[in-house]
This record gives sequence, structure tokens and C-alpha cells, in this order.
Amino acid sequence: MDRITNKLPIILDSDPGCDDAVAIMLAAKHPLFNLQVITVTAGNHILEKTTQNALKVCSYLGIDNVPVAAGMSGPIIRRQVIADHIHGENGLGNIDFDEIRIRLDHRHAVTLIIEILLESNGDITFVATGPLSNLAMAMRLEPKIIPKIKQIVLIGGSYQLGNITPAAEFNMYADPEAAHIIFTCGRPIVMIGLSITEKVLFKKEVAARIGSIDNKAATLFTKVMDFYTKSNKRIFGHEVSPLYDPAAIVYLINPSIFTTKLMHVEIELKSEQSYGRTNCDFYGLLNKPANAEVVTDLDSERFWEIIDKTIRLYGRT
Ligand code: RIB
Ligand code: CA
Repeated sequence: MDRITNKLPIILDSDPGCDDAVAIMLAAKHPLFNLQVITVTAGNHILEKTTQNALKVCSYLGIDNVPVAAGMSGPIIRRQVIADHIHGENGLGNIDFDEIRIRLDHRHAVTLIIEILLESNGDITFVATGPLSNLAMAMRLEPKIIPKIKQIVLIGGSYQLGNITPAAEFNMYADPEAAHIIFTCGRPIVMIGLSITEKVLFKKEVAARIGSIDNKAATLFTKVMDFYTKSNKRIFGHEVSPLYDPAAIVYLINPSIFTTKLMHVEIELKSEQSYGRTNCDFYGLLNKPANAEVVTDLDSERFWEIIDKTIRLYGRT
């Protein structure tokens, strides 16, 4: 059963990003959430474009009651890498949008994350669908926020193959030092990585079902997925495209459809070949304390049902 009892306060930190756009779409509409802020980081593209994309999505969908704040313009240490080869020249499927009617919050995302967490009673879940630069920087600037974070649900990492190098997944690779700060912060982490690739495939029947919904959210979803599917086919040879970022939102709506395994996870910071890899101790070989619940499986049908149902909550205009 999807959780709708009491509202779940969340911060959504993203790098829109085709699949981030769907995560924003779901988080802003599902009745479970009290979406406190959408914070943006560089990642799939440079900060200017990811920020514009967050505003475009919110403006197009009429999400005008959630502050959008721009954060880190790049990784803390490493040289910047982006994923425009997947998300397009504008970072959001090169989709044209009407003029943006949502104003960017004047506050920096990192300071806003600190403010919101310090003022909270420790009930906020931090959802990250991009590189972890904003939260890592916030932790370094004000460590008092760390115990205030109820849980971190992040998209990224892999205990199998990488997708930006043979070893590393993009969100971790884009800022490995930030990822290290997060995975050593001591707060509960749910890591939703590339192990779900085969389970979140945007199959034809799903495309037809969501494509038949007559509202702007479904229109945007279809446009985004058209582009994202072509990119995943061109780059990875995927006949059917996976869709990662919304899994963080679906997890919070119904964690029971996910299978997780407690593991010790360390970020590779030294190796040239494996820089940014999440070294997941799947078999507990190191006898080190587990620091993350790593998703190993999910119920695809119920995953897509939740996405379909939430998109239908949007009105036609
Ligand atoms: O590796 C997939 C992740 O990297 C997704 O969050 C995608 O948006 C990119 O940020
Ligand atoms: Ca993302």
C-alpha cells in the first residue's frame, strides 16, 4: 500500500536532467510529500542549464509553491564532467518550453539546505538525484545539520558496471569527494544505483499507457522519455531505456516494492581507473560497519503503476 498517512517533508536535490525532471514531477504532486525546496546542482549539465531546466519544469507544470534554489556550480575537488551526451545540449532533451514564469529563489541552495535542516525537528528526508555536492558542502559548512537529517535517499552508485566509466556511475563520478562525505556522515542512506537498470525499463506498454494520459505532465514525460530513450540506445545500446531518478521518489511512496541489502560502501578516491566507484562490500568481506541500504531489486509493475498514478494527478491545463 502506498504511504499517504502524514506528509513526509523532503528536500529534492537534482541536476535536471531528463530523469530528474520526472522526479520533480512526482515529488511536487504526490500527496505524501511536503516538498520543502528543489535545490539544483551542476551535474548532467552546467549549473546555469540545470537551474534553468528546474525552473522550466516547475513553470510548465505549474509548480509555483516550492522554492527553487541554485547550488554548487561544480564538484568540490575534481574537474567538472557533464552528461550532455545523454541529456542534450540544453540538458533537458533539447525540449522547447514556454517562457519561464517561476522566479529563482535568491538564496544559495547550500545555505538554504542548512537553514531548513537546522529549523527542522529532524524529520526531513534528503532526496538526491544528482551529484552530492550541495549536501556535502552543507555538511562541511554546518556539521550541526547532520543529526537533523532523518534519511538520505540517493540515486547513484553501482555494485556492478559503471555508466560513465567502466567502474563508476555518473552521480558519484561527477563529485567523488562529495560522495565520500555523504557515505561517511553516519546518517541512514538508501542507495538506488544502476542495479535497478533492468527493472525500471520504459517498455512500449508503459509508454502507451502514460502517453494516453491527457495532461501536461504526461506530455512532458513522453517528450523527455523520447529523447532519453534515443540517448540510451545510442550510448549503451539499450533497446528500452531505464529511468533512474524517479525511483528515489517511488521508494519513499512505497518502500515495500524495493529489495535492499545492508552493505559497507566506500567511494574510490585514489584509483585512476576506478575513481568515483562505489565499492560495495556485497558479501561483508571487510567486516566494516554497513553504512547504506543498497537496492538490489524492485517490483517493476508496481514501480510503473505508482508513476502512472501520480502523473494522472496533474490537471489537463
Ligand atoms: O547515472 C544516472 C544518474 O546520473 C541520473 O541521476 C542521471 O540524471 C544522471 O544524473
Ligand atoms: Ca540526475
